[in-house]
Amino acid sequence: MLSRALPIATAVALLAAACGDTAVDEVLDTAPATSAAVTTTTQDTAPATTEPPTTSAPTTTTAAEEPEPGATPAPEELPAPEELPAPTTTLPPTEAEGLGDSLYPFLGNGGYDVLHYEIDLDVNPAVNAISASTTIEAVAVEDLETFNLDLSGLQVHSVAVDGSAAEFSRSGHELSIQPANSLTASSAFTVNVVYSGFPEPLDDPGVPFFRSGWTQREGVIFTASEPSGSMTWFPSNNHPTDKATFEIAIVVPEGLVAASNGLLTSETTTGGRTTFVWRMDDPMATYLAAVYIGDFERIDSGLLYEGGPLLRDYVPSDSPPEVVDALAVTPDVITFLEEMLGPYPFDVYGTMVMPFELGFALENQTLSLHGNDTVISWIIAHEVAHQWLGNSVAPDDWSEIWMNEGFATYLHLMFQSAEAGTDFNDDMANLHAQLVGAGIGPPRGIVLEDLFGPSVYYRGAATLHALRLHTGDETFFEILRTHYDRSAGGTTNTAEFLALVDEMAGLDAVDLVESWLYDEAIPDAL
Ligand code: TRP
Ligand code: ZN
Repeated sequence: MLSRALPIATAVALLAAACGDTAVDEVLDTAPATSAAVTTTTQDTAPATTEPPTTSAPTTTTAAEEPEPGATPAPEELPAPEELPAPTTTLPPTEAEGLGDSLYPFLGNGGYDVLHYEIDLDVNPAVNAISASTTIEAVAVEDLETFNLDLSGLQVHSVAVDGSAAEFSRSGHELSIQPANSLTASSAFTVNVVYSGFPEPLDDPGVPFFRSGWTQREGVIFTASEPSGSMTWFPSNNHPTDKATFEIAIVVPEGLVAASNGLLTSETTTGGRTTFVWRMDDPMATYLAAVYIGDFERIDSGLLYEGGPLLRDYVPSDSPPEVVDALAVTPDVITFLEEMLGPYPFDVYGTMVMPFELGFALENQTLSLHGNDTVISWIIAHEVAHQWLGNSVAPDDWSEIWMNEGFATYLHLMFQSAEAGTDFNDDMANLHAQLVGAGIGPPRGIVLEDLFGPSVYYRGAATLHALRLHTGDETFFEILRTHYDRSAGGTTNTAEFLALVDEMAGLDAVDLVESWLYDEAIPDAL
């Protein structure tokens, strides 16, 4: 168990240990010891599962039960938890259907392209229940008699396609829908799913340090869904290749704050309940969709510059001033990154601070999740860097994760070095020595358990530095900027990046990057 847990624990610890005055050269040395401390808080709730679960018997429901589109039961009418069937979804499911991702073949669904999600969540935080409706606007890319959405746990009450009740059945996380009239290629359609229940995070072997998805803890609800967990709270085409815009409306008891991605478009209180409506107008991968509910205070910092992003953070109402002070670095981080990558990709940015330790942070689009232990400049820089690389430009397969984490790590290390006034080349040479010392393998060809391990984060970052030393700064930053520009709002992969390297720096540069990405041995000194 320990050896399995170590790679991610090490990565988390690397991130944690690299903070403050710990020099980069100590990072890998200190990793294992620090990792134990960093991960204890999550291990209780997140038993590392590396064995495929065998207990997920498929459950089937048919539309005949209650096809009543639009009838969302109030949370108070929900059955008590013990009356509900136990959550059936674990990963991988018994029946694999999906888009053929190389690490998560069963995630997502083919046959259609989602354009927009409208998610209405009525939340009863006292019992952690939701009563919900999700309406999806999509286009069929082929003739469809049936199609699937991904949804884990919860009870589906009705499904309607283009306003007409549709047959549906469930098996593992697959919600299969048979519209009354089959859909023709290129036609637009809407599907509405009415559902309710007690959302449960799921065991995703890619994130053994955390149960993925909807989470309630210490009076707060938050979502941390990378890579698979968004299906614990809304039905979707759950893969980053199918990005869409979102409108998320959250109803909570008056006095609580509900936050999500993008801009808050309205906040209305009636009868002791407040509805917060959030809109994400730029394409977003499902794993970055966020819900945060708690006793939070908003800290407004206005626009970064005229026409620039709106900056606001959320902190627990009783946060000590140090937490608020630590957030003040955000404008500098964005400015630093804009100089390298071009304008910040979205309308708004902020940090959402939990009233407890998390040991990590997550780049939920425009409102990153942080624990009160991870409000630290370089972690803020890491999550902000993801807004360009990871969020605006998403991986087209989960095996491409180094293109999120390696790039974000490289950029946060640059920020950290600039902030500390250290010599960046020296810092990276130290990192190289540490990678060699720890025998860190290549970031490509990883197994699921190493998805968020040090190969991806730190050897990924060192790969970029090796390229930079080879090409010189000017070409390197042109490559970085062009890489972002070409895929902004979409997805990318290593092959596209290598083609760009070839175009701008030639085959020797490609060979070098390939040896960093694929060879077991770490190439010679940076
Ligand atoms: N992407 C996160 C980061 O490095 C790490 C991460 C992946 C994560 N999956 C997660 C964090 C799930 C919390 C929960 O910034
Ligand atoms: Zn990251």
